[in-house]
Amino acid sequence: MQYTLDWLTDPEVFAVNRISPHSDHKCYATLAEADADRSSLVQLLNGTWKFTWAPCPSRWQADFFREDSSTEDFDDIQVPGHMELQGYGKPQYVNTMYPWEGTMPFQPPLVPEHDNPVGSYVRMFDLEPALRGKRVFLSFQGVETALYVWLNGTFLGYSEDSFTPSEFELTPLLRDTGNKLAVAVFKRSSASWLEDQDFWRFSGIFRDVFLYAAPAAHVRDMKLTADYDGKDGIFSATLDIEGDCRIRTLLTDAAGTVVAQSSGMRNIHHTVENIRPWSAERPNLYTFTVLLTDASGRELEVSRTMVGFRRFELKDGIMCLNGKRILFKGINRHEFNAKRGRAITEEDMRFDIRFMKQNNINAVRTCHYPNNSLWYQLCDRYGIYLIDETNLETHGTWAFDPARNVPASRPEWKAAVLDRARSMYERDKNHASVLIWSCGNESYCGEDIAAMSAYFRASDPTRLVHYEGVTQVPGHKYDHITDMESRMYAKPQEIEDYLKQQTGRPYLSCEYMHAMGNSLGGMHLYTDLEDKYPAYQGGFIWDYIDQALETQNDDGETVLAYGGDFGDRPTDYGFCTNGVIYADRTLSPKVQELKALYANLRMSVRDGVLTVENRNLFADTSDLTFLVRLEQNGTVLHTRTFSWNVPAGECRTIPLHLPAPPQSGETVCHVSAVTASDTDWAAAGHEVAFTQEIVESHPAPATDVMPAKPVIVYGDVVLGVHGEHFSMLFDKKEGGICSLKYHGFEYLTRTPQVSFWRAMTDNDRGTGAPEQLAQWYTAGKFAKCEDVRWEEQAHALKICFTYRAACTPAFRYTVTYTAHFDGRLGICVSYPGVSGMPHMPVFALDFKLKRQFRSFRYYGMGPAENYCDRNCGARLGLWESTAEENLSGYLNPQECGNRTGVRTLSVFDGAQHGLTFSKADKPFEMSVLPHSAYELENALHLDELPRVRYTWVRIAAKQMGVGGDDSWGAPVHEEYCIPADQPMTLQIIVEPLQ
Ligand code: GAL
Ligand code: MG
Repeated sequence: MQYTLDWLTDPEVFAVNRISPHSDHKCYATLAEADADRSSLVQLLNGTWKFTWAPCPSRWQADFFREDSSTEDFDDIQVPGHMELQGYGKPQYVNTMYPWEGTMPFQPPLVPEHDNPVGSYVRMFDLEPALRGKRVFLSFQGVETALYVWLNGTFLGYSEDSFTPSEFELTPLLRDTGNKLAVAVFKRSSASWLEDQDFWRFSGIFRDVFLYAAPAAHVRDMKLTADYDGKDGIFSATLDIEGDCRIRTLLTDAAGTVVAQSSGMRNIHHTVENIRPWSAERPNLYTFTVLLTDASGRELEVSRTMVGFRRFELKDGIMCLNGKRILFKGINRHEFNAKRGRAITEEDMRFDIRFMKQNNINAVRTCHYPNNSLWYQLCDRYGIYLIDETNLETHGTWAFDPARNVPASRPEWKAAVLDRARSMYERDKNHASVLIWSCGNESYCGEDIAAMSAYFRASDPTRLVHYEGVTQVPGHKYDHITDMESRMYAKPQEIEDYLKQQTGRPYLSCEYMHAMGNSLGGMHLYTDLEDKYPAYQGGFIWDYIDQALETQNDDGETVLAYGGDFGDRPTDYGFCTNGVIYADRTLSPKVQELKALYANLRMSVRDGVLTVENRNLFADTSDLTFLVRLEQNGTVLHTRTFSWNVPAGECRTIPLHLPAPPQSGETVCHVSAVTASDTDWAAAGHEVAFTQEIVESHPAPATDVMPAKPVIVYGDVVLGVHGEHFSMLFDKKEGGICSLKYHGFEYLTRTPQVSFWRAMTDNDRGTGAPEQLAQWYTAGKFAKCEDVRWEEQAHALKICFTYRAACTPAFRYTVTYTAHFDGRLGICVSYPGVSGMPHMPVFALDFKLKRQFRSFRYYGMGPAENYCDRNCGARLGLWESTAEENLSGYLNPQECGNRTGVRTLSVFDGAQHGLTFSKADKPFEMSVLPHSAYELENALHLDELPRVRYTWVRIAAKQMGVGGDDSWGAPVHEEYCIPADQPMTLQIIVEPLQ
């Protein structure tokens, strides 16, 4: 057969000689192999391949596949892996625009002729003995974007669709030894027009490559349905078997007991009584085994797949699983690894699945393409609901002009998109975890996508169809494509408006809570809808993991890079860093919030009585333990542990029998529900939910000891207060306290400065806050001290500095220091309320301390960073950290490290020196960081931050929320903003560390 490079730009050619897609069941030679999950019928071809790279097809060595072509001057490359991450070409990050934007006109299906890298891969192999004499197939699990394959010099086939398998039969061309497999991978093809996802643009063979043999008889495909009627399981299987054989099938439960079996049938139906149904909460699985034998009973092939019995359906306009209204506590997950791009490892997937389970996430949208097959097995086994998404996104074709949309209703693209739907469906159809098929992402609408939807419906009545793109089309013309109203970044109010219409269609947010940088503020405004509207069925956070790549900076340090850092242009820069975990799979502080808001247990304590609302659909609390802890100022007074079974869907109360709280101080009753024993996703003791209640609060009685009066010196420029163990100097010129010594040790490097500015977050930048709020940048930073007054009181000297803020309208604020004669320093910053100013980012006082005060301990909300609109997951407690640790890993440095509800904060060095800041009237917010807000503001990467010389302690009366509805214009919700026209004070007391 003749091949041509014309196929690359012909949307109607996307598969040549490719075998038709099939289920991803596993095949073994014997039952023993199946039990050990080690198949002799599979030969992995991963590893080191010979490789050469050309920048474009015209410079490609087109005869490299020939048997007499030498690979002597080829390099080595690792398979699976991307070319760009192994030194060939460079990665490029773009969001909606096509990567060649600005370099050639918009001309689908054409791609740039001079910028279309070609990777030529060669792999020599001998066939493993167990595969010899059988039909043998070659499977590529993922190749981006188009590949041509040759075996032993002969052309074998061509395929597109980067994210589903491309398989070819090798049998007639195959030798037992000395085979030459040659693969040419083209980075760009007409397929690139269908793969305009918001991600790094890579190419190459990035998933497994293997051979598999089909014995004399072989299960090519199996289609299973495992329905659940509330009691029994209704099982059916359609087997596509090649070759003459005897057939036996077995359905076994987790204990290995056979619950159903058949002989000689290719269409199987069983009713299995009293089945244990599958759900994310109780992922009960059965094993389906097909044994093919010859007439003498000799094993030919054993195929196996896992089965979960469940019923997913629309009932009265509500999506139900096993009869119950389901809530998707979801997240969008790109396959990503900071070192390997989308060539992720099994270890990554195992980390991810455990992360999801540990943090109360019950659903994943495989944005925006079918994932590695292992992921589906893990989701079946651990219990995660999936929206399985077709590899289709054409965002750049319609973002500026819907009339240019591909595929729309264009006939030349229809077969290609249908093929993508089919490849996904056929591969993944037997997975219990897949509840919803998605037609793709952001591809606008037309007859082609309508045909995909019709295909899913016709093939699979056991699942629903999802597509968000219908919302883009005026006039609801294509609403019928999707079974649910799915939107992205709809605001809570907009969702509510939809739900109030009672359209009879369920609602979900396929994307919400844009977790870019310091974000996820106001998430509870969404989860609050769960109780109010049955048709609200949850959403999927955008997204799971930052897409940032490990690289070396000019100093040879390992850093995480984002768009543009490789000189890649055009680019969308940091827009790929929206994860709740960082690219190196460490957790960001955002996780604390989603874990709490996604918890299936809701607990509260009032008057010593615990209420537990078990919002699981199926799981009771028998596998949990409840821990009760009574604390005062972080010190544990009393603990208790008990088990208690609250059935799924029920709300129960129980008295905690707490001891009477002590007479003074703040007592907190903390209850957490933890796993009682080890599970496959967490060790025993893993917290799934918590609550706390402040039980009693008496102000500590004022200790009225009369301290000795210190020496007070009224200098011309400086006022001094000198006590037995302390001394303070107040500088009239500088406008504040310039020296604070305890036991002769100096704590200040500069006069504390009022600041109304926070380093803009990604969300702030997205809303235009830098420009709107710019007045606040200079207001405190460049303020001028205009006046100072002092007054000696019975127990203190009060010095009040008045500042004129550097902004328009100018206003005055005061900082009043109270030098208590016992050595405590009171500080009160007072803001008058100003009309004509935009809302205020933060109202804070910054202390520039020596670097040595890098450790801190506080009694307040923690342990992770939190904000007024992101503290549902934080809890009151005594927490410790360091300035460096407190600098969050947001790749574009920005506001971070804040804590709300702080009663006291101590910063200290390793030698007993330190200061304690305590609330005077009400709790404050604070951060301790190695950099000032202004330093953070200036840097675009973490490694641009200046050398650490100080510790910056920021004490704030209040900081506005971080928001998170989206990062391109959504403001922080009003209730979490700081109106500028209201007066405000910040009051604290500073004293030496006790
Ligand atoms: C959505 C899109 C995602 C991502 C996100 C912004 O529109 O579906 O792929 O681009 O916006 O981060
Ligand atoms: Mg997009």
